[in-house]
Formats: sequence, C-alpha cells, structure tokens
Amino acid sequence: MRRSMRIDEALRLGAKELGAVAQRPILEAQILLAYALGVDRVYLHSHADQQIEALGYFDLIKRRKAFEPIEYITNRVSFYGEEFFIESGVLIPRPETELLIDQLKMELRGDERVAEIGVGSGVISIMLKKLLGDLRITATDISQKALDVAAKNARLHGVHIDLVKADLLEGVDGVFDVIVSNPPYIQNGFPLDKNVALYEPAQALYGGEEGDEILRRIIDLFFACEASVLACEMGFDQRRRIEEYVGDRGSLRFYKDLAGLDRGFVLKKERR
Ligand SMILES: C[S@@+](CC[C@H](N)C(=O)[O-])C[C@H]1O[C@@H](n2cnc3c(N)ncnc32)[C@H](O)[C@@H]1O
Repeated sequence: MRRSMRIDEALRLGAKELGAVAQRPILEAQILLAYALGVDRVYLHSHADQQIEALGYFDLIKRRKAFEPIEYITNRVSFYGEEFFIESGVLIPRPETELLIDQLKMELRGDERVAEIGVGSGVISIMLKKLLGDLRITATDISQKALDVAAKNARLHGVHIDLVKADLLEGVDGVFDVIVSNPPYIQNGFPLDKNVALYEPAQALYGGEEGDEILRRIIDLFFACEASVLACEMGFDQRRRIEEYVGDRGSLRFYKDLAGLDRGFVLKKERR
C-alpha cells in the first residue's frame, strides 16, 4: 500500500476493501479516514484532492475487514442523538434500546428512585438523567469494565449516577420505585454475526439455556421489592414465556420495535 495519496483516492480504495464486511462501505471509509486524520467528514469532501499519509487509515481498514465493529475502532457510538464513549469489552448500545427510553419517558414523573440492572456503557441511565433531571439513579453491572465506561460517560455528559458492582441488585442499598434493564437475553449458543461474536462480551449477550433466565430473575426480584414498575428489553420471541412467567402477578404491556417485533415490556404490580 502506498503511503501518500489523495483523500478521494484513499476513500475509494478503502470503500472497495470494506465491500465484503460493511453494509455501507463508503460511509464507513469516510468515518475511518476522518477519524485517522482527526477531521470531520465534511472536511473530506471539501479537501478531496489533498495529499495525505494514509498508512494509519489503512491499518483501521484492516481492523474493520477483520469484522471489528467500527464503534470499537473509533471509540464512539451514537445513542438517542447523543455521542458516547465505547470500547472493546463493553456492549455497543443498539438503536432498539432507544425505545426503552421512550417507554420510560411515558411512565415516569421524573422524581423517582430508579435502579438500572446491567448498565453497560451507561446510555440508558445517562439519557434518563439528562431527560428527567430529578431522577435518583443507581446502576449495577457485574463487569468492572462496563462500570468504568459508564462512569466515564456520566462524567462526559455531566450527570451523576451511583454505580455499583453487583449481581443484579444483590447487596445494593436503597429502595427503588422503578427498575429498568436491558439484560443479556440471547439463548446460549445462538449463532451471532462475526462482528458481534468475535468482539462483544458474551456476558452482555447470552442469558442462559433458554435465553430469558436473567429476565426471570429480574422479574422475581421486582416482585420481592418495593418497586411498582419494571421496564425491560427482551428478545422478539420471548413474549409468551414472559406472559406465562408473570401470570396474574402483575399487569404487562409489551412494546414493539420499528420492525414490528416484540422488543420489551413494562410490568406493573396489581393494585391491592
Ligand atoms: C445487553 S447489555 C446492556 C448494556 C446497556 N444497558 C445497554 O443497553 O446498552 C447487558 C449488561 O448486563 C450486564 N450483566 C450481565 N449479567 C449481569 C448480572 N447478573 N448482574 C448485573 N449485570 C449483569 C453485562 O455485563 C452487560 O453490561
């Protein structure tokens, strides 16, 4: 590979290389070149004939060709219109999880005590705190790396969340009005795309032999505590099992994702 070339040439060659792995190779080549040069994508268009040193950029293209997610390469991810830090070892937030925020916006007054289980990069708790500033949020994870990334994102966004290393809410002090979680819910052994299987943490993805084991533990915990609302993301095929598991213990409302698939639920305790 030549060291020096024009920006438009680097983009063309990079996009060609990414054709086999990326759904939008031109866009990804632009993102990687902009990142390598420390400029924004508009700069690439307005300086198409500028001569650059391209070796660093082609190293990034090589990583992407090995299926590494672009978010881990650039350490950036967008969620709910905001930018967050992300790094290998922590789940990349998914667009469908934005729907969980919409559900909570409908349910919350804005001054509740909230517990999030499985905070990951922190996007759910941080967005809730940004949108509803008087919430008091405690968020847990079993992964120290996730807690570190969530702490960094909370700092970047200037919000306060209590972060605790815990299995679900075990040993966590406090009484909560609302519990929220996007837990691991994929069935063990389910084949995933290479970019996910090779790079994202298994403990953030797999939920057990059936997939919904952690969801069930969270439902049990909800019924054993003071909280009156539980909102969770789930797998598109888990609705029937969740309905059966909850039975007549509470009222369930499911919500769908943009593809029309069941994607989560809001569970409330029946009034006595
Ligand atoms: C699907 S990820 C969700 C991350 C983030 N909330 C999001 O929506 O992008 C699930 C998270 O739950 C954490 N986790 C898995 N088992 C857990 C447990 N028993 N207790 C607490 N957290 C757990 C994982 O480490 C991971 O960060």
